[in-house]
Amino acid sequence: MIETFKNEVSQGLNASPKTLPSKYFYDKKGDALFVEIMNLPEYYLTRSELDIFQNKTQELIDSLNLNPNTYFELIELGAGDGLKTKELLRLLDAQKFKFDYFPIDISGNALALLKQDLNKELPNVSVKPQQGDYFEILASLKKKKLPIVILFLGSNIGNMDDEMAAEFIYSLGNNLQPKDKLLLGVDLIKANNIVLPAYNDSKGITAKFNLNLLERINNELDGDFNLHHFKHQPEYNEKEGIAKSYIVSTIDQKVTISVIKKTFEFVAGEKIHTEISRKYNDVLIEKIILKTDFSISNKIMDHKAYFADYILERT
Ligand SMILES: C[S@@+](CC[C@H](N)C(=O)[O-])C[C@H]1O[C@@H](n2cnc3c(N)ncnc32)[C@H](O)[C@@H]1O
Repeated sequence: MIETFKNEVSQGLNASPKTLPSKYFYDKKGDALFVEIMNLPEYYLTRSELDIFQNKTQELIDSLNLNPNTYFELIELGAGDGLKTKELLRLLDAQKFKFDYFPIDISGNALALLKQDLNKELPNVSVKPQQGDYFEILASLKKKKLPIVILFLGSNIGNMDDEMAAEFIYSLGNNLQPKDKLLLGVDLIKANNIVLPAYNDSKGITAKFNLNLLERINNELDGDFNLHHFKHQPEYNEKEGIAKSYIVSTIDQKVTISVIKKTFEFVAGEKIHTEISRKYNDVLIEKIILKTDFSISNKIMDHKAYFADYILERT
């Protein structure tokens, strides 16, 4: 893991324009900051999807077309704190469905907290956490004969560009059998004045979350980023439908990262691109799904129509 981290940081900061992968947001501090973000009034994403999971739980279960007498595996990619999934697990458990829940996350800390929480709240649900990068775990997923439901919530897919998203969903399908399901949660395209504050909250928590990436490099790779000389900068253009997060150098400066034995130069105003959060509509989703072995079998939205959970079936 540390080797990959070193290589990806080195490559990203050598690139022009500079980039850093968003998956490294989630160390212990990043996990806690993300939980704070989810509770911010501006961060409508979690609340919108939670609305679906709380109020349309039966519709979700019905769309997954599960047989209560047949065992299945419920695999979640990037499970985080499992807040929304818990609603689904609760009803599946109450209705005596037979399944194991496999949360996958790059953060061992998030998984440990999730397992502890679920064991307490839903002791009958079998939880089998798997730590790692879901891109890698995906490759090691053996083709199983058991029915599988994959959850990919929180518009995590939006952290990939459309081509990568299509490839990712296609490769998910490679590990599945016909009729297996993918529940894909996506944020929908909407106006600038709703989207941008979600990435630029008034308390500055998103700024801390973004800048924590530099702090993590300082801590784990012995870097000397001075956080006073970098700032968080989100951008969103409704027409394009993509929110982008940057870290901007506020002065001309040099940063040395000892573990990778490199010094990087920044000019004032230079950006490090840290994250994209793509927003979707039916046309964009259909275009992506067309390149995969899935078909769209249902779409469930929250009451404000801010967010959609698409139920995709492996064809
Ligand atoms: C934005 S949070 C979303 C959490 C939850 N799915 C939700 O919808 O609220 C993203 C989660 O995915 C995990 N994650 C991000 N990139 C990952 C990757 N490449 N492999 C595995 N987990 C990843 C993070 O650790 C974090 O817990």
